[in-house]
Amino acid sequence: MKDDRVLVGFDGADDAAVVRLDGVRYMVQTVDFFTPIVDDPYQFGQIAAANSLSDIYAMGGTPLFALNIVSFPINELPKSILTDILQGGADKAAEAGITIVGGHSIDDKEPKYGLVVTGEVKKHELVRNNGAQPGDVLILTKPLGTGIIATAIKRDRASEEQIEAAVKSMTTLNKSSADAMKGIEVHAVTDVTGFGLLGHLLEMCRASNVSAEIDFKKLEFLPGVKELASENIIPGGSKRNLEYVKENVHFHNSLSETDQLLAADAQTSGGLLLSLSKEDADKYLEILNVSAPFPAFKIGRVTKKTDKFIII
Ligand code: CO
Ligand code: CO
Repeated sequence: MKDDRVLVGFDGADDAAVVRLDGVRYMVQTVDFFTPIVDDPYQFGQIAAANSLSDIYAMGGTPLFALNIVSFPINELPKSILTDILQGGADKAAEAGITIVGGHSIDDKEPKYGLVVTGEVKKHELVRNNGAQPGDVLILTKPLGTGIIATAIKRDRASEEQIEAAVKSMTTLNKSSADAMKGIEVHAVTDVTGFGLLGHLLEMCRASNVSAEIDFKKLEFLPGVKELASENIIPGGSKRNLEYVKENVHFHNSLSETDQLLAADAQTSGGLLLSLSKEDADKYLEILNVSAPFPAFKIGRVTKKTDKFIII
């Protein structure tokens, strides 16, 4: 069925669904949930909530309220763990200025947690992933490497410093990154999550019918990520990401297989990837980097569509 009120649906691989309520107000909604990626249940709740909220911010939207989605082995694990997960989610939602007003839980072998988030976006503030223009600058608002550190945690290879940095990044809301877009003409935005930088950039380029040139040296990574990757501590998801994007990417011959995997690393609660004019990019960085816990950085530029979507 074709519904004219649906502005953003399945097609185009955008971050959240957008449905028109009236002439100027649109509803934006998203859902995400996953299994624990850190050992601390409270931090896991925070990460899952920040990750779910991110798709609202990636559309230029403002969250309104959320619902919990919970799987938990209620007879096998202490209930305090579940309480901590939910508290982490509730605290992160409060930081985003919203309340979790309900939800649904089931008994399941493995814990899983996430949110359904409903938000709103004004017609003129809606930003999709399909408006990148040749000449634009590409900005990323968080360092990369959470997938690699999460794998290192599972294999008991992550240092305290690495865990702390990854948790800080994953629990940081993309709210300030989204707030800084207000009043600036951003052509396209998405958040970098499971498909990694290359996967989400490929979606943006394809939807916008442009290509992107990325300077690998400009990519910032969490501490120790390059070393972990060189020891082959790389999640299966990142390897699949690289396989998936390969035919659309031209890798400079100075980049090793490990470098390619670093650029494809599957992220959880990653930063926003923005495409905007050079002048607006400088303005955006000036506004954002006053307050942001992580400095946002330029990673490359948008060009006319060439034979490959991404050159790195
Ligand atoms: Co997204
Ligand atoms: Co998502």
